[in-house]
Parts: sequence; structure tokens; C-alpha cells
Amino acid sequence: MAATDQQTWNQRYLAGEFGFREPDAFVTEAHKNYLHPLLPPGSAGIDLGGGAGHHAVWLAQQGWRMTLADWSDAALGVAREKAAPLALDHPLETVQGAALDVVTQSHEQGRRFGFMLISFFLDRAVLPWLPKILVPGGLLLYRTYTEDNERLGNPRGPRNPEYLLRSQELLEVYRGMKILHYNETVANKGVAELIAQKLSVR
Ligand SMILES: C[S@@+](CC[C@H](N)C(=O)[O-])C[C@H]1O[C@@H](n2cnc3c(N)ncnc32)[C@H](O)[C@@H]1O
Repeated sequence: MAATDQQTWNQRYLAGEFGFREPDAFVTEAHKNYLHPLLPPGSAGIDLGGGAGHHAVWLAQQGWRMTLADWSDAALGVAREKAAPLALDHPLETVQGAALDVVTQSHEQGRRFGFMLISFFLDRAVLPWLPKILVPGGLLLYRTYTEDNERLGNPRGPRNPEYLLRSQELLEVYRGMKILHYNETVANKGVAELIAQKLSVR
């Protein structure tokens, strides 16, 4: 992505296009059915391309030690405002930067997370790095648009194939992980969602 994409996202957040929202059911259900049963309480999680933090702040309220990473400082500012008055067990950490830099630097620094959330963000260069910065047993939660989104005529979501998953793509990329949940919607909108567990040290 060129720098102009980053500026466009910043402008959208500054214009108030993405106000604070409730978390998606994918995240609340993943918390209940996978994070809570499988991870030690207070495990570290990162929301990559997490925007204004409607997921990261909610997850922090559930007691997870959350890092919110996004290249839009405007988005991170909205998230910090939302988190500030909350009595969180662990303060929300915000990291401004391109996702590829965030994951490669985390890897170099030996920083590891119990879980990782990517919601409606795709940079294919980032994908192979994600399991590398999970602890063994850690969970990857991934949800974003597929190429079907365009075929189904959903007005929301990107049109550029660079930002659209191919059918089964997440299953192929993460075939070394234990797949706990996978779904693709094929009516109204095209969205793939994956929950996978890292089994080994890689
Ligand atoms: C569609 S929004 C999704 C925000 C949030 N995850 C959600 O589910 O609502 C995509 C987010 O990814 C961020 N983004 C896009 N490309 C990025 C990149 N290469 N590095 C870091 N953040 C990026 C944008 O700033 C934006 O906040």
C-alpha cells in the first residue's frame, strides 16, 4: 500500500466516519467459545489494523492485556479516548505503524501474543508472520471480505482483489495450525472467518 492509503484512512477517522461501535458477534463469540476456555486469564492480545478500537477496547474490558495496532494515529486517538475513563485491569497499549512493521518488529524483539485479531484488514505480506508472533497454543482470529463480496453486490468493502481473500485462502495459508472454526458467507456479503490455534514453536 502507498502512503496515500494511510492518509486516506486518517482522513476517514478524522471525519468521524467510524464512530465507536459495539464489537462484532464474531469477536464476542470467539471470546466466549475460544479465548476464555483456551487461554490463561489476562493473556496478551493484539488487534492488528484494529482502527478505532471497538474490538480492542471491548476485549480489554474482558480482562485481556490488549495492544491495538493501526497505521492511523487518528483511529488510535479515538480508541485512547474511549479507553481512558474505563477501569481496565491492563491499560490499552496503542502502536502506530504499518502492520508489516509491527509484526516483524514484534518478532525481532521476541514479543509474543496469546491471541491475535484481524478484522477487515488484509495485507498478504503480513499473513505468514502471524503464527510466528503467537505463543504455542495461541489463537488467530481472522475475519475479512472475500472475492464473493463483489459477486454478491455488497456495496460495503473493497473492490481491489489485493484486499479480498480467495475462497479457502486462509485455510491454505494456515494449514500448519489447528483449525477450530472456518466459515465463508455466500449470501448478501462475502466474508471468511477463521479461528486457528498454533500447535508448535515455529
Ligand atoms: C476496514 S478498517 C477495519 C478496522 C477494524 N479492524 C474493524 O474491524 O472495524 C481497516 C483498518 O486497517 C488499517 N490499515 C490498513 N492498512 C494498514 C496497514 N498496512 N498497516 C496498518 N494498518 C492498516 C486502517 O487504518 C483501518 O483502521
